[in-house]
Amino acid sequence: MTVVLVTGGTGTFGRKLTPILAARGHEVRTLSRHPGLGTHVGDLTTGAGLAQAAAGADVVVHAATDSRVTAMGRTDPQQTARLLGAIGDCRHLLYISIVGIDAIRYRYYRSKLECERLIAASPVPSTTLRATQFHELIARVLVSTARSPVAMLPLDLPFQSVAAAEVAARAADLIEGEPLGRAPDFGGPQVLTGRQITQAWLHRHSHPRVVFGIRWPGAVYRAFAAGLHTCPEHADGHQTWEEFLAA
Ligand SMILES: NC(=O)c1ccc[n+]([C@@H]2O[C@H](COP(=O)([O-])OP(=O)(O)OC[C@H]3O[C@@H](n4cnc5c(N)ncnc54)[C@H](OP(=O)(O)O)[C@@H]3O)[C@@H](O)[C@H]2O)c1
Repeated sequence: MTVVLVTGGTGTFGRKLTPILAARGHEVRTLSRHPGLGTHVGDLTTGAGLAQAAAGADVVVHAATDSRVTAMGRTDPQQTARLLGAIGDCRHLLYISIVGIDAIRYRYYRSKLECERLIAASPVPSTTLRATQFHELIARVLVSTARSPVAMLPLDLPFQSVAAAEVAARAADLIEGEPLGRAPDFGGPQVLTGRQITQAWLHRHSHPRVVFGIRWPGAVYRAFAAGLHTCPEHADGHQTWEEFLAA
C-alpha cells in the first residue's frame, strides 16, 4: 500500500483527490492547519507538524496554496521549500500548478512559478501538473456577485475551465507512474468567453442582475486576453461548464 500525503487536502482540489486515492487502495494523509479537518495538523508556513505528517510518506501531492487576493501566494515558495525539506525520502512529489504561469506576469502566478522552480531544482523526484481554472473557482466568483446588485466581470476574456475532479483523477494516475518532471497540461473541454460563461450561469441563477464588462490596462490583461492561460491542444477534461452547472 502506498502512503500518500496530500497538502491542501481540505481544499477544492484536495477534497476531490482524497476519495479517489482511498478508492484506489492508497493510505491517504491530509495536512491541515485546523484540527479535525485533516488526518494531520500542520502548517507549511511555520513547518509545525510537518515532520510527523511526512514521516514514511511514499508519495506527496502538494496542492496547498494561499490564493487569497490579499496574499496572492506570497508564502507559497516558503511553504514549498519547507515541504521539500521534510520529504527527502519520498519517491514521488506531484505539484499542482496552473497553465500559462510562465507566460503571464500575474503576481500569484509568479509565486507558483517559483514553487515549480524550487521543486525542479530539488533532489526529490517530481511531476508538475498544470491545469486550467477549475469550474468551481469560476462558480465561486459568480456566487460572490450575489453580494452586490452590479457585477464587474471580464466578459471578453477566454477561459477553459475544467472540473477539479477530472484534474484529481489525472493526478491520481500520475502518482501511480514514474516522475515525469513536467506532465502534459490539462484543460477543460471548451474555451468560452467570460460572456458565454456568465450567460450560461444566468440561465440558472437570478444574480448578478446587472453585469458590466471590465478590462484593465497592461501586459497581464493582454496575456489573459490572448488566452495564454488556456491549452486548447490539451482539452482533456470532459465535463463542460453547462454540465457542471446542471450537476
Ligand atoms: N482553483 C483553481 O482554479 C486552480 C486551477 C489550477 C490549479 N490550481 C492549483 O491547485 C492547487 C489547489 O487549489 P485549490 O483551489 O484546491 O486551493 P484552495 O481550495 O484554496 O485550498 C487551499 C489549501 O491549502 C491549504 N493551506 C493553505 N495554507 C496552508 C498552510 N500554511 N499550511 C498547510 N496547508 C495550507 C488549505 O488547508 P487548511 O485551510 O485546511 O489548512 C487548503 O486545503 C493550488 O496549488 C492551485 O494553485 C488551482
